[in-house]
Amino acid sequence: MSNHAPDSHEAFPTDAPAVVTCGLPYANGDLHIGHLRTYVGGDVYSRALESLGQQTAFVSGSDMHGTPIAVQAIAEGVDPEAFALEWHEQYAETFPKFGVEFDNYGHTHDETNRELTYEIVERLESEGYVYEKEIKVAWDPIDEQPLPDRYVEGTCPYCGEHARGDECDEGCGRHLEPGEIEDPVSTISGNPAEYRDRAHKFFKVSELSEYLDGFLDRLEGTSNARNQPRQWLEDGLQDWCITRDLDWGFDYPGEDDLVLYVWVDAPIEYVASTKQYTERVGADTYDWDEAWREDGEVVHVIGRDIIQHHTVFWPAMLHVADYVEPRAVMASGFMTLGGKGFSTSRDRAVWAREYLDEGFHPDLLRYYLATNGGFQQDVDFSWEKFRDRVNNELVGTVGNFLYRSLLFAHRNFEGTPEADVSAEVEERIEEAIADFETGVNDYSVRQVGTATVDLARFGNEYIQREEPWNLVGEDDEAAAQVIRDCVQIAKAVAVLFEPVAPDTSAELWEQLAEDGSVHDVTTDAALEAPPRDFGAPSELYEKIEAERVEELNEKLEARVAEATAADDGDEDRTESDESEAAGDSDVSDIEPVADDRISFDEFQDLDLRVGEIVDAEGIEGADDLLRLTVDIGTERRQIVAGLKQLHDVDDLPGTRVVIVANLEKAELFGVESNGMVLAAGEDADLLTTHGDAPLGTKIR
Ligand code: 2FM
Ligand code: ZN
Repeated sequence: MSNHAPDSHEAFPTDAPAVVTCGLPYANGDLHIGHLRTYVGGDVYSRALESLGQQTAFVSGSDMHGTPIAVQAIAEGVDPEAFALEWHEQYAETFPKFGVEFDNYGHTHDETNRELTYEIVERLESEGYVYEKEIKVAWDPIDEQPLPDRYVEGTCPYCGEHARGDECDEGCGRHLEPGEIEDPVSTISGNPAEYRDRAHKFFKVSELSEYLDGFLDRLEGTSNARNQPRQWLEDGLQDWCITRDLDWGFDYPGEDDLVLYVWVDAPIEYVASTKQYTERVGADTYDWDEAWREDGEVVHVIGRDIIQHHTVFWPAMLHVADYVEPRAVMASGFMTLGGKGFSTSRDRAVWAREYLDEGFHPDLLRYYLATNGGFQQDVDFSWEKFRDRVNNELVGTVGNFLYRSLLFAHRNFEGTPEADVSAEVEERIEEAIADFETGVNDYSVRQVGTATVDLARFGNEYIQREEPWNLVGEDDEAAAQVIRDCVQIAKAVAVLFEPVAPDTSAELWEQLAEDGSVHDVTTDAALEAPPRDFGAPSELYEKIEAERVEELNEKLEARVAEATAADDGDEDRTESDESEAAGDSDVSDIEPVADDRISFDEFQDLDLRVGEIVDAEGIEGADDLLRLTVDIGTERRQIVAGLKQLHDVDDLPGTRVVIVANLEKAELFGVESNGMVLAAGEDADLLTTHGDAPLGTKIR
């Protein structure tokens, strides 16, 4: 699935300044590697853009406001500002330890953000997009206090799942407006809540549907971010309540008993953080004003749970306030652990700090996170898989090629032999650069990483094929040619792997005795001649032993078991914890196997066939359903399936499936369904075939 530029955008690199942002983490708890997926992804992307020669600012900051902070601070009996600042400082120290080097990492409670927030809100007002309306808000009648957002939990009015006040985090994922949640209960006191009338400010998002429709046509990035908002627009947009009854946050201008909803000032920090970067380096180096108010290329890197905020509310605000609209949104999938979601309360997580304490190099995790599956795919972390990727690809392919060729070069030629790079190798390096560039334009951090690993794989094949060790002393010129080529490939690896593995690439750069910093060069350097002399190399990547994985698993399991036993069963869900819903169910959740047996003949009555989805599209008026066209060899069937919320519609064509071909026809939302696609569980995990059985094959 290509995510590359529709015609309205020029391919990267362009002459305009780019801004790459990462979703602001709420400053309320430890970071785990599930969080790091988005930050590493953003960092790789921003470094890759710079390698193409694009002027880029990479910014983020801590999200200090809102009930996610207030609720936690209350629980710990501390002041929210001091509480959030402490976490903010910890994040600011932690990110660089993983090579995530923001040009500016600010926070939402600072003056720059306050000023820009007021300017933008006043602009929304002066353009006539804000009005006041009386609404019902949840209230604790015993404690006599309002219960905004996460002060309350209850039932989602859309899907019936348990949800928190601002978001259906366990069900359909929708943003919930004040007053929407059913059966509200206070998360602070446990008291059942009631609804009371209060006057609040609303942003007229509903009037911006036409603009947003066009915006989505132009939007680039991952397909989940481009497609999901279409449905919200088709369903009709509601106006957006932008104030809260809370005493933590920025006061709404001119109203001292209302604060701005956290989601107003949070994304504005993207702008504020860029502005602070300019204030530090000067507008000649990077001009925030040009980037945000003239022609910048804004790329937002986020978790998939906040797509709506970045593709509807935020562009609507930017549009009215006359700022540039985002060019792309890259929304990452969730991360699970052993098939289950990360859970802070159950200590079921691999913590960022813990990873470093174990002594693993950050580049190993960066590589794993960047290349393990597509960015928008859910990824299940396990120490085994981590070890396999490190040992097979980083050690076995990249490290092995670099060490054997550079050692050979050093021993036999004291560095780079005198020769020109062969046409074959030059072309292969050009191909790797092209793959890298396509990766950037397709918003595929994975491709940015695999472009280099594939090049190193070629390097191994090349040296193996040419056997320079047999040429030395026999045909020195031929040996010199092979090693000259290998040193060039090694240099290209350093340049092209820098976004994914910045630290080890810098080490490789040094081993090649290159001047300056590999962080400052562009992809052209991959084809420039390496220095004549360099010393003996050392190995860049170290193998992880199987026993190490066993130890890590044991530690993790013991900790999870202990924490689960001590836990009262309340899952706490932070941004990435909600992926619990995406994981395996506990054994106790699995439906018991039916007692009644059926005969073989009865089973034979089912006509199950191998098929392939050739087309998938939504059905008007149906939130969950898709009209699929499935090729079953002899014919194409139209089948209606409830997959819309659970799969990326654009990714479905090409998927092999198993269908029940002799099911009675049915009509759903006026569309005939001629068969049934088999899928497992609530996530509709599609059944497929392991081999290449031809389409139409009967399943027995
Ligand atoms: O969901 C969250 O974790 C928010 N703190 C993300 C904010 S991103 C941005 F838009 F501000
Ligand atoms: Zn819901």
